[in-house]
Amino acid sequence: MAPGTLSRQLVLRVTALVAVVAILLSALTALAMRQILLGQLDGQLQATASRLINSGRGPVGRFPDAGGPGQAQGLLWYVQGQGGFVQVEDTHGVLTDAVMERLEGLEPSRQPADVRLPSLGDYRVITQQVGGGRVVITGLPMAQVTASIFAIVAATATLTLLAILIAFLAARSVVERSLRPLARLAGTATQVSALDLRSGEVAVPVRVDERDADPRSEVGRVGLAFNHMLDNVEGALAARQRSETKVRQFVADASHELRNPLAAIRGYAELTRRERAETPETTAHALGRIESESIRMSRLVDDLLLLARLDAGPAIASGPTVLNSLLADAVSDARAAGPDHLWSLAMPQDEVVARADRHRLHQVVANLLANARTHTPAGTRVEAGLTVAGPEAVITVRDDGPGVPPDIVDHVFERFTRAETSRVRRSGTQSTGLGLAIVSAVMEAHGGSVSVESRPGATCFTLRIPLAGR
Ligand SMILES: Nc1ncnc2c1ncn2[C@@H]1O[C@H](COP(=O)(O)OP(=O)(O)O)[C@@H](O)[C@H]1O
Ligand SMILES: [Mg+2]
Repeated sequence: MAPGTLSRQLVLRVTALVAVVAILLSALTALAMRQILLGQLDGQLQATASRLINSGRGPVGRFPDAGGPGQAQGLLWYVQGQGGFVQVEDTHGVLTDAVMERLEGLEPSRQPADVRLPSLGDYRVITQQVGGGRVVITGLPMAQVTASIFAIVAATATLTLLAILIAFLAARSVVERSLRPLARLAGTATQVSALDLRSGEVAVPVRVDERDADPRSEVGRVGLAFNHMLDNVEGALAARQRSETKVRQFVADASHELRNPLAAIRGYAELTRRERAETPETTAHALGRIESESIRMSRLVDDLLLLARLDAGPAIASGPTVLNSLLADAVSDARAAGPDHLWSLAMPQDEVVARADRHRLHQVVANLLANARTHTPAGTRVEAGLTVAGPEAVITVRDDGPGVPPDIVDHVFERFTRAETSRVRRSGTQSTGLGLAIVSAVMEAHGGSVSVESRPGATCFTLRIPLAGR
């Protein structure tokens, strides 16, 4: 019953409706009762008037001897211009001047009317013209009718309040009971929304309960539709998973199949080039290009194969790996490959041991070092670093080269992203645009991460890997 909920609105509206109906009904009842009671009183009044007029008392006869002034309510009998009395049981009371003044002012009429008489209270009177031009007024007190109406109003008001209270309680219990399946439905929906549907796992194990999926009720229909939707989603996810697996398998197979013919092309190109003496200049150049391009293509194929394997699932064999020696080896390889760059390495004396696949991680670091070598001019300073930060080992590769071009820095870890600059074209044989994509995929498979910060003169790639034993 929190503010803004459907149940609160329903309960309040139903209660308000019942209240309006109950109040209207009781008001009409009170009005009708008043009409009936007045009708009875009027009948009584007419009868009394006829009886008195015909009895020959008053206007035609004489008034009985009056006692003291009439204060209590009783039958009123008055003849305009002559006087009258008020009769309570057997005694007759004299009318005060104020009362008489009021009665003198009444006009003859067929219909009884209400008058308020000073000190006597409300009266129902009928003013009649009788023989001899006399005007006779007969009156009966209203007190009883008023009291009855008051009692009826009090009773209906009490009943109305009771009805409103009962309506409120009943509506609340009914609404709560009927909305309970909706709450369970919302619970199921929340559970589903918490599922991680991005990962390969495609089962959606949650369903709305049978009893909340009964097509005869409105909520049940929603539940049923929800279950159908979940079936549908599950089917779609499974289909997507199947087709993805197929594509990956195809890429892996294709890469694998391409390796042998590529190796053959390379081999024959190399063989022919060796017999340079007999081949003309242009042919030698073409053969050189065939060789270098087939080397590039082999590398591309290897990279694609590795990426396809990493996509298919964890293609790494994690174990405790000492990072100090790994980094030292990688930097020394890079130094040998790029003697024109200035290489340095900073790492702690103590061994840093991470949970990693040594071979793959070496490949990652080698990729970063190769980038720092091939995408920067000679003389660039490259610094590799190793530190520990909390539960992670952090490897950094910094260089003071020109930096990653700003237009590609945001998606440099995506496949086939590489800069279209002359510098890259110069190092064309090395470039596949897959190196950093592999870095990112391998780090993800390790439960680690890679990030880059780059501006001209300061480029830093940072690897984070969970430490062993955590
Ligand atoms: N240290 C770096 N300095 C400048 N640019 C870099 C550096 N590392 C990577 N890049 C840019 O990022 C692109 C993508 O790198 P990568 O995925 O390894 O592909 P590749 O090296 O095969 O071109 C490179 O083409 C290059 O433009
Ligand atoms: Mg590269």
